[in-house]
Amino acid sequence: MDRRKRDRTFPPFENVLVIDDESNLCEALSMILKRQDYNVTTAEDGKEGLSLFESRDFDVVLCDIRMPEMDGIAFLKAAISRKAEAVIMMMSGYGTVETAAEAMNLGAVDYVAKPFKPNEILVKLRQNEKRMQLKHENTLLRDVIRETFGFENLVGRSKVMRAIFNTVQTISEHKTTVLITGESGTGKGLVAKAIHYDGIRRNGPLVAINCGGLPEHILEREMFGYVKGAFTDAVYDKKGLFCEANHGTLFFDGIGKLPISLQVKLLRVLEDEEIRPLGGNKSIKVDVRVIAATDEDLSKKVQEKTFSDDLYCRINLVPIYLPPLRERMEDIPVLIDHLIRKFNIHPGKQVRGIDPDAIRELAGRAWRGNVREFENVIQSTMAMMDHDIISVEDLPREVKGGEKTGDLLSFDTLSIKANNSALEKLLIKKALTQTKGNRTQAARLLEISHPTLLYKMKEYSIKG
Ligand SMILES: Nc1ncnc2c1ncn2[C@@H]1O[C@H](COP(=O)(O)OP(=O)(O)OP(=O)(O)O)[C@@H](O)[C@H]1O
Ligand SMILES: [Mg+2]
Repeated sequence: MDRRKRDRTFPPFENVLVIDDESNLCEALSMILKRQDYNVTTAEDGKEGLSLFESRDFDVVLCDIRMPEMDGIAFLKAAISRKAEAVIMMMSGYGTVETAAEAMNLGAVDYVAKPFKPNEILVKLRQNEKRMQLKHENTLLRDVIRETFGFENLVGRSKVMRAIFNTVQTISEHKTTVLITGESGTGKGLVAKAIHYDGIRRNGPLVAINCGGLPEHILEREMFGYVKGAFTDAVYDKKGLFCEANHGTLFFDGIGKLPISLQVKLLRVLEDEEIRPLGGNKSIKVDVRVIAATDEDLSKKVQEKTFSDDLYCRINLVPIYLPPLRERMEDIPVLIDHLIRKFNIHPGKQVRGIDPDAIRELAGRAWRGNVREFENVIQSTMAMMDHDIISVEDLPREVKGGEKTGDLLSFDTLSIKANNSALEKLLIKKALTQTKGNRTQAARLLEISHPTLLYKMKEYSIKG
């Protein structure tokens, strides 16, 4: 087979170093490998092998275990300490199989038992080539995931967001349980991802469970897994999410909806760091960081006795509260920049920026749906426009005529008079926006006379 014809995205092994004190074996291996287009260099013991290894880049090393001067294990230790990612395969003769296992623990990628057939060694080489290729692809994929979900994607410059960034950075290096609260669309999920993908557990899994989406008994099975026969449908053993998330993070989304019985069980796992699958009689140790999120007020639920006080105290060790977007409008300009970059994906159709009037228009809106809603508006605006600067005209109608910050009826007071005034003010502003400031038309929409409108505008300090 011609190696060059092999389809590989990861560079295939090319330069091979063979270390063996049996010169016959070195020669034979050399011949077999050269026939397959590998570049082969040979050494007669570990010492010679190590100096070659240090002077050149080899893709793979095939190393005997028992040799004079420096044996295979000593070579392996020295080589790995110099290049941790070196690909070293051991060749073990009779009586050295156990040592081969030790070599694997020390960082060898594989071993082949002597005597071996030529084909055997080639198959092993290719298997490891493939393994390295997958490892390489995994690393690339992780980088992409990190770029997409990591810390850089969490933007904001308000004081409160900057404080959150600091907390996220500090806690991502620890295993502490975190509770993220905030209205829907404020970025709880994104913060959870940033904690995971920017922290020490980034190479472990991030597993999410939606506590509100499933009936209690299914949720329990999902969390803890079960053994065959635990209930009628349990025809095989199933790993629970705690096991799936081992060495990583388990994200309890919508924790406020977790049934009380499971709250108690979750607390026990957090304390004991072990779980027992349903129907099983053995506990399994788990190493999982728990992040919980909710848009509910858990302290209120504790008072109402629908949320466990103990669990609340345990998960609330590090609370992160994401305020609604309308309370941190100074984040809007950086969010716009970030979103323009995020959605500039159509080649040949690039949006370069946004004009100040459009920023003012966006910053004046209440954003009940928070960052999610804001993101949707920017995305759909960008999809519809055919020029490169977003202007007020490009913004969707509901934004321009939408509910504005400060206009909201508070109902802090039950006074009909006070609330009527707030409502009048809101309607007048809406009518003026809709008619682009034309008072005659606005008065018609409001079904009041022109002088009444002028009077009310003065009363409410509305500039038309
Ligand atoms: N600070 C931020 N910077 C950049 N993007 C953000 C930020 N906050 C939120 N987003 C984006 O807004 C959208 C909504 O965020 P997310 O899904 O994390 O909200 P949530 O609080 O989990 O909402 P829900 O309670 O409905 O699950 C996502 O696309 C997210 O990427
Ligand atoms: Mg979410």
